[in-house]
Amino acid sequence: MRSTSDSKRNLIIVSNRLPLSIKRVDGTFQSSLSSGGLVTSLSGLCKSTQFQWFGWPGLEVKDSQDRADVEKSLSEHHAVPIFLDSDLAHEHYNGFSNRILWPILHYQSGVIFDDGPWQAYRRVNELFADSIADVAETGTLIWVHDYHLMLLPELLRNRLHEKDKHCAIGFSLHTPFPVGDFWRNLPVRKYLIEGLLSSDLIGFHTDEYKQNFIETCASLLGARTEIPNQIQYRNRLVCTDKFIVGIDPQKFTDTLQKPEVKARIKSLEERYTGVKVIVGVDRLDHIKGLTQKLKGFDAFLEDNPDLRNKVVLIQVAVPSREDVKEYQELETELSTIAGKINGKYATPEGTPLLYMHRSVPFTELVALYSIADVCLLASTRDGMNLVSFEYVACQAERHGVLVLSEFAGAATFMRDGSIPFHPANTTEMSESIAKALNLDPAERKRKYEYLRDFVNKNTSAKWGETFIGRLSQRGKRPDRPC
Ligand code: ADP
Ligand code: G6P
Repeated sequence: MRSTSDSKRNLIIVSNRLPLSIKRVDGTFQSSLSSGGLVTSLSGLCKSTQFQWFGWPGLEVKDSQDRADVEKSLSEHHAVPIFLDSDLAHEHYNGFSNRILWPILHYQSGVIFDDGPWQAYRRVNELFADSIADVAETGTLIWVHDYHLMLLPELLRNRLHEKDKHCAIGFSLHTPFPVGDFWRNLPVRKYLIEGLLSSDLIGFHTDEYKQNFIETCASLLGARTEIPNQIQYRNRLVCTDKFIVGIDPQKFTDTLQKPEVKARIKSLEERYTGVKVIVGVDRLDHIKGLTQKLKGFDAFLEDNPDLRNKVVLIQVAVPSREDVKEYQELETELSTIAGKINGKYATPEGTPLLYMHRSVPFTELVALYSIADVCLLASTRDGMNLVSFEYVACQAERHGVLVLSEFAGAATFMRDGSIPFHPANTTEMSESIAKALNLDPAERKRKYEYLRDFVNKNTSAKWGETFIGRLSQRGKRPDRPC
């Protein structure tokens, strides 16, 4: 890791999820790479920018020697754990962040609210603020990430003020921000927005999310928002903008050159000779539209009997948030639908659907992306969706086709290079899959080149460096217009 400028030398990144998640297996600690777009984008930034990354290690650790062991293993990744009691972490992560806040941010109806998880959410944000305020020094840039920590900018600002430390605070949301009327369903809607408005700079993935947020600030809090990208609230000036998040495409290009990956690609290509491969990689989450995807694929097989033994969907559903009831129920539902599809269409020649409910190693993921003729992503809402970028990064030779839900943030930028569809419209999905499989080579090349240029231009490093540069300027001139 190297530092690219002075302004980046003293940078703290804070997120709930760290790049490694720790688990206790048979009394010893084991770490595994965390999955999810937040970790992917921030890990991509590590190459060019030096920072310390604070977050929750994923489990309770009470014993001081154990804590030292966890700290040591995380320090190799420049990560620093903030330890939490398991009940508190459970209520914060599963109870409030993932059962209440996540659905609201993704326009899922049936809003639930409980005071217990909300109090735990507040408490965890306070504990994070205590830890960060202790280590930050005047001039440190503090960049907070995602919905688990929306109160942190305000709590941190107050603590830093008490300690007479002056730091610029940035915040990036990795999810959509819904229209104000939907956000109002949440009883604690004002506190969360006020929490964010102690930031100097707030980043969103798309203009739509940014605009929804600005309008919410005006209607809910009476903030002044006449000047574009600028929110004036309680004598503070907060800047907001769209910062396009991305991946590190080089990591995929390099992995594709590894002999073991080349061998794996060759063996998969042999296995699927004469068969078109559609790939899907999603965390097992309602917002990924997996139920809709399987139903759409079912409709495609129904509509195209001649293609039944000639197409396979390989769907990786990465286990996620398994302590939340709604996620457990979704898994049961998906296994049932997957079984029914194969029950209906399987022949002695093969099954049309390979549903894998597990995490796959990175090299295997890259091999799958590389051999697939089509990538099918059916998010009902999605902050960005970096899987779509990763597929493109692995398609230099095949020029595979991206069939992308119009509700993924990525569709805002990738529309012309993909085949967009509405995830709840099974007919449209079926037709889009057929279109992708039949696209002529010239059009495939045109679409691929459009996507390749976008993915190569909008890397995670560029995203991070742009945000940090803007935050640094804000730190030097907090009263300057945005
Ligand atoms: P989300 O952040 O909602 O999960 P994204 O599509 O933006 O959705 O990001 C998912 C990320 O998780 C991708 O970068 C993908 O490569 C990564 N991923 C998928 N499977 C694994 C895995 N087994 N281990 C680590 N990361 C994974
Ligand atoms: C999304 C969220 C991230 C989160 C990731 C994985 O990308 O925006 O904040 O880290 O999903 O979810 P998890 O609950 O495992 O952290």
